[in-house]
Amino acid sequence: MILGVNVDHIATVRQARLGVEPDPVMAATLALLGGADGITVHLREDRRHIQDRDVRILREVVPCELNLEMAATEEMVRIALEIRPDLVTLVPEKRIELTTEGGLDVMGQKEHLKETVKKISGAGIPVSLFINPSIADIDISKEIGADMVEIHTGLYANASGGGVKDELQRVTEVAKMAGNLGLSINAGHGLNYLNVRGITSIAGIRGLYIGHSIISRAVLVGMERAVKEMKETIGRF
Ligand code: PXP
Repeated sequence: MILGVNVDHIATVRQARLGVEPDPVMAATLALLGGADGITVHLREDRRHIQDRDVRILREVVPCELNLEMAATEEMVRIALEIRPDLVTLVPEKRIELTTEGGLDVMGQKEHLKETVKKISGAGIPVSLFINPSIADIDISKEIGADMVEIHTGLYANASGGGVKDELQRVTEVAKMAGNLGLSINAGHGLNYLNVRGITSIAGIRGLYIGHSIISRAVLVGMERAVKEMKETIGRF
């Protein structure tokens, strides 16, 4: 199971002073030294954290999977085709949200997403869709032409009591369905050093994309160690 480390929060701290530090490119290098299998950044339309320059430099220095999360807009497609990440993950984007709050509306946006996926995968870049844990959304993702899906694990991460088991079951069923349809399956959002073990027990999951909990630990113990500990946690279960 691969671990993609999201370094957006490093850029958030930098943008607090509109300066040059801390640099998400340096953080990415340390994450790779700690054992990350890939680096993820979300270039938001409002550029609130990651900047175009970050994605360009990361493309030059990341020797493994560079995953560009982005909204399905003309501007972002143009940037993706120019920078050529190893993977594009299409995500919904609302200006007022603190983080990506849910999966894509694959039903409502089907035609637009299909067109977007076609443009990106037509240029030889694999596309993943960030979707809610719903069987219907898996079917539509396949129809849209995605190579992969990333299942939103936020409901699982926020569940408590008996709800945890129910949400895990839901992710498990959706992952199974995606596998049956030949889609590669990733998972992410809200995963941390404790709850990640549930997701690692699901058969067929290719990769996990984790940001907040790793960066939070990195602030205290350093990036390399935080990533190494997450890798060990994933590998242990
Ligand atoms: N996957 C996607 C598509 C996301 O938008 C995010 C948040 O940026 C993550 C994974 C990582 O979520 P978290 O920061 O909660 O680990």
